[in-house]
Amino acid sequence: MKYIPYSRQLIDKKDSKLVLSSLSNDLITTGPFVEKFENNLKKYLKCKFSYVCSSGTAAIHLAMLSLNLKKNDIILMPAINFIASYNMAKTMGLKVYLVDVDELNGQITPNKILECIEKNNLKKINALIVMFHGGYPENIKKFYDIKQKYKFFIIEDACHALGAEYKFKKNFFKIGSCKHADISTFSLHPLKTITSGEGGIITTNNSKIAKNIKLFRSHGISRNKKIHWLYDIKKHGFNYRLSDLNCALGLSQLRKINFFLKKRKKIYTKYLNELKKLHLNLKIPEYSKSIKPSYHLFTINILFDKFNMNKDHFMKYLLNNKIITQQHYIPIYKFSIYNEKKKSFPASEKYINNSVSIPIYVGLDKKKQERIIKIIKRYFINKKK
Ligand SMILES: Cc1ncc(COP(=O)(O)O)c(C=O)c1O
Repeated sequence: MKYIPYSRQLIDKKDSKLVLSSLSNDLITTGPFVEKFENNLKKYLKCKFSYVCSSGTAAIHLAMLSLNLKKNDIILMPAINFIASYNMAKTMGLKVYLVDVDELNGQITPNKILECIEKNNLKKINALIVMFHGGYPENIKKFYDIKQKYKFFIIEDACHALGAEYKFKKNFFKIGSCKHADISTFSLHPLKTITSGEGGIITTNNSKIAKNIKLFRSHGISRNKKIHWLYDIKKHGFNYRLSDLNCALGLSQLRKINFFLKKRKKIYTKYLNELKKLHLNLKIPEYSKSIKPSYHLFTINILFDKFNMNKDHFMKYLLNNKIITQQHYIPIYKFSIYNEKKKSFPASEKYINNSVSIPIYVGLDKKKQERIIKIIKRYFINKKK
């Protein structure tokens, strides 16, 4: 029996065909597939500007650069997130304040942001990074209200949330439409909603920010429009471009995004129905009706201390049954690179002690999912409620 991974990309013949065709173009980078992919993303997300880049991490870096954030500027971000946003902020010399998360869904909440501002007596905040953990974009309206009050930029680390939507007043908007954030960033890593191999997307509706993104993405080069061999360097930029090969794959995958999302929703719904009433000490965060998730992760929370057990034991039990699970993510304050004094994040502690991501991906068929459910159910047999 083969191991069931916690996630896996789905690549088909159409994907391969388009990637192969991109190789016959004159330009295999900065060519027609880049433009087409960016245009299609713009239409799909309904934003004014959409740029691709070499990774989700690059997208986050470009976001911080293009907002002109500078040394000692204050930025707030979740205590639990993939390390990319923290690393990028620190390389830029920003002053980072970590915000505790909700103990069940692992996301920052409006209250936790306000708590962080008060506790640290922050007067001027330059930016807030929000992350839609697992692809469930809650609280956008409230984040937006706090932004209006404190006048900071919002960068959405939406790497889990391509395809997700949220309701604002009466209408639904796609994450990435940037209607209530300054910049959204996405990852096109193989395990995300769609993939380009490696890659990232950055979107905004602000033309000044857009101009900066383009400059920083390619060495800060500004070309003379009439004489092609003349150019100036306007920024200390990077090479964060994405090749046409990657964009051809991304474009082909984008054509299937609705099918991908539907498949993920089906898997999510089956898990929820089968597991939600299984045991009092098994908690599954349920999302509000004002969002349409991308179902990137399915996370369960088990109150292990009630069974005198820990998470490692459960993850090993699943592994012994050929099911690979994951934890998202080890809190940032636990890493050696974190050298701030404040390490008290009680809800993040609970979240990381109890939460496990179980397999969810487009290719997870009914038989495999039923096996996962059966093995999880078996864990709870004989455990008193
Ligand atoms: C929430 C989050 N942010 C940022 C990133 C970084 O994206 P990439 O791996 O494309 O650089 C990831 C990727 O795993 C992520 O999950």
